[in-house]
Amino acid sequence: MSIILKVKARQVFDSRGNPTIEAEVFTKNNSASAICPSGASTGTFEAFEKRDKNNKRYLGKSVLGAISLVNTKIAKKLKGHNVHDQERIDALMINLDGTKQKNKLGANSILAVSIAVKKLSAKLKKIPLYKSFLIKNNFQLPYPLMNIINGGAHANNGLRIQEFMIRPDKAKNFSEAMRICYLVVKNLSKIIKNKNLSTSVGDEGGFAPMISSNNQALDLIVSAIKKSGFVNGKDVSICLDVAANELFRNDKYSIHSKKYVSVNKSIQEYKKLINKYKIKSIEDPFAENDWISWSKLMKSIKNVQIVGDDLYVTNLERLKKGFLNLSSNAILIKLNQIGTVSETLDVIKFAQIIGFKTIISHRSGDSEDTFIADFAVGTNSNQIKTGSLARSERVAKYNQLIRIEEHLGKNARMNKVV
Ligand code: PGA
Ligand code: ZN
Repeated sequence: MSIILKVKARQVFDSRGNPTIEAEVFTKNNSASAICPSGASTGTFEAFEKRDKNNKRYLGKSVLGAISLVNTKIAKKLKGHNVHDQERIDALMINLDGTKQKNKLGANSILAVSIAVKKLSAKLKKIPLYKSFLIKNNFQLPYPLMNIINGGAHANNGLRIQEFMIRPDKAKNFSEAMRICYLVVKNLSKIIKNKNLSTSVGDEGGFAPMISSNNQALDLIVSAIKKSGFVNGKDVSICLDVAANELFRNDKYSIHSKKYVSVNKSIQEYKKLINKYKIKSIEDPFAENDWISWSKLMKSIKNVQIVGDDLYVTNLERLKKGFLNLSSNAILIKLNQIGTVSETLDVIKFAQIIGFKTIISHRSGDSEDTFIADFAVGTNSNQIKTGSLARSERVAKYNQLIRIEEHLGKNARMNKVV
């Protein structure tokens, strides 16, 4: 048993330069800290992110109120409890808040503390963080879903689809997966430059050239895969995050062009994209409340991973609904959508029981904190979504996975993608 003596939070900055919370938890001779990330295209049903809307000194973005709650109410509640009892600590914070979406304390305050507790517990037990989750003991490395072109709310280029990603499906180990992605990213950079387009990057490190057609973005990626000596759809697969909440109005969608069209027409267009570009995974193809369209799509396509992000918001009740409705076959996992490590683990366990793929994800506003890299391995998740090979807050997670692979040595294995 190791007793929590102190909990302290401070305001730091995320990768978009916005204020966020870092919490630090202390036992007698030790401490660990964690930084909470923040999304831009957030789902309505996500847990509440507490900000000081009226504080003009930080344009309404500071988190000083949330920090003060960590330093007073949360600290008082957790003091004297065993740092190894994650479930109890998370339950204490959930009950202290008492609301469904963590409106009182804010999921950002609670999560920063929850992750810091998890890190401190592993540190005190002297086990690597990735070995501290005990979902399964086989510690497989996830496939990277590397975001290489940014659009939607993550860039200002007018691209309808938010994320164009690659997944190195044939990679035999994580380092090889990174080498394959590296080649595609570098070749994509050359191709973009040769077209006199900008190689500047968006919030998640992917290129954000001034193009506005999905097909144009996909053509660039196909050329980059080819130029790198790989076969699209075999060695490397193209994956999308549509973030369709942002493209939905009056039961219609403007995914494939600026024009709003019916769900049936959107599905036809999806089918064309899947066939032409051999797309293997589509995240948030429809809006967060449009359950019927999700199952329509699931019934009309085969062998494509359909991922619920804003649809499920890492929430067990919503995942159960999606399972019953046949809405998808995979779930994106973002800890700050629900607000504690324990609740996130419950969602992952359920998803894996029902045969859904679990994909651990960063947020578009992220930090140097690499917790999700260990979390992906420790929860036996098939994939990790953590941006491109640019911007240190993204690359930091990949680098941590490289360390984990090295640490596992001969026992290192890749997870199964299909
Ligand atoms: P967000 O985007 O972090 O801005 O919500 C990531 C995603 O939609 O997957
Ligand atoms: Zn998403």
